[in-house]
Amino acid sequence: MSTNENVPSHIAIIMDGNGRWARQKGFIRFRGHEEGAKSVREITRACAKKKIKQLTLYAFSLENWKRPQREINLLMKLLKDYLIGERNEIRENDIRLTAIGRISALPEDVKRELRISMEESKNNKGMTLCLALNYGGRAEIVDAVKAIAEQVKTGKLNVGEITEETFKKYLYTHDMIDPDLLIRTAGEMRISNFLLWEISYAELWVTPVCWPDFKKEHLEEAIKDYARRERRFGGLRGEYT
Ligand code: FPP
Repeated sequence: MSTNENVPSHIAIIMDGNGRWARQKGFIRFRGHEEGAKSVREITRACAKKKIKQLTLYAFSLENWKRPQREINLLMKLLKDYLIGERNEIRENDIRLTAIGRISALPEDVKRELRISMEESKNNKGMTLCLALNYGGRAEIVDAVKAIAEQVKTGKLNVGEITEETFKKYLYTHDMIDPDLLIRTAGEMRISNFLLWEISYAELWVTPVCWPDFKKEHLEEAIKDYARRERRFGGLRGEYT
């Protein structure tokens, strides 16, 4: 839940439509991803300046391995270049970089740059930028269940102690607040296996704009729309209480 009711503390984004953007313009798909990386930069900077506490970006899903090997290789190279190229920007904006997902399965060179960026920024006090990499919401829940089962097996946890709060401690996002606002670009009305546990009470905002065209003004629009919503978390509206 957010501390200031009208400004989301945590924004999560499903960055979709890079391929469609490229196709509409007659470019190869990868141009869409390259332009998408520019939107990542602009939106990250805008969120940091607006003092949003956390931004989580769905950058590579577990399902994305099904894409042609060439596209995967180019995406991994883009990610690596982004990590190296953004270090100054991350430092200047006091951003702490983190990652969620099955990180160990990423290519070694990407893991190395990710480790360096995370280590360099770990004491930064501004916004947390979390990259979801090789991430799947169901996999996250399965990984948590496995870790809990291990604890129970070794007698470190009693079954009766497993509550929603305990469960949360085993998720990749254990040290994060839940998203207040989930943005999806390119119009699809889907969650696509993103943060399944964490978005239980998130407000959804979907725009037809493809991710490479998603800029500061679209972010402003989403935040304004969020501010008008009344979040009840399963309770009643004020006038009925
Ligand atoms: C969806 O577009 C986007 C992705 C699968 C990857 C997201 C990657 C980026 C935004 C670029 C790089 C990211 C960072 C952090 C540097 P799509 O290819 O599924 O689009 P389509 O549905 O129109 O084909």
